[in-house]
Amino acid sequence: MEDSFSPLILTYCCYWCSYTGADLAGTSRIQYPPNIRIIRVQCSGMVHPNLVIDALTNGADGVLMCGCHEGDCHYREGNLRAKARADAITMMLEDFNLEPERYRLEWVSASEGPRFAQVVTEMVEQVKKVGPSPYK
Ligand code: FES
Repeated sequence: MEDSFSPLILTYCCYWCSYTGADLAGTSRIQYPPNIRIIRVQCSGMVHPNLVIDALTNGADGVLMCGCHEGDCHYREGNLRAKARADAITMMLEDFNLEPERYRLEWVSASEGPRFAQVVTEMVEQVKKVGPSPYK
């Protein structure tokens, strides 16, 4: 299944760092799997855990959350909120009988195009291993 399965990964990128990092990966023509659909948000701390669960129960196989590095959030502590919410999301995934590998939180700065590509590649491989969302 791992070879033929092409997961859909919903990717939240904060406006100030990660979205620019994703843009840099694109303008630098860095190759990464085409499995992601990016949603730009102002800050990773603004994404409620329910949005993650909604995505995973409505067609996405994984959710990747990308924000500024700790200490760099333009809303001071938004990314720390996202970090705290990651634990809640892990518990919610269990309640929904979903594997913890379906959610990943990463820090990607505006200058880290190669890192963005690496994180996406790793996330796609990670979700391929667990297979399609049972809610599909
Ligand atoms: Fe990037 Fe808050 S502005 S995580």
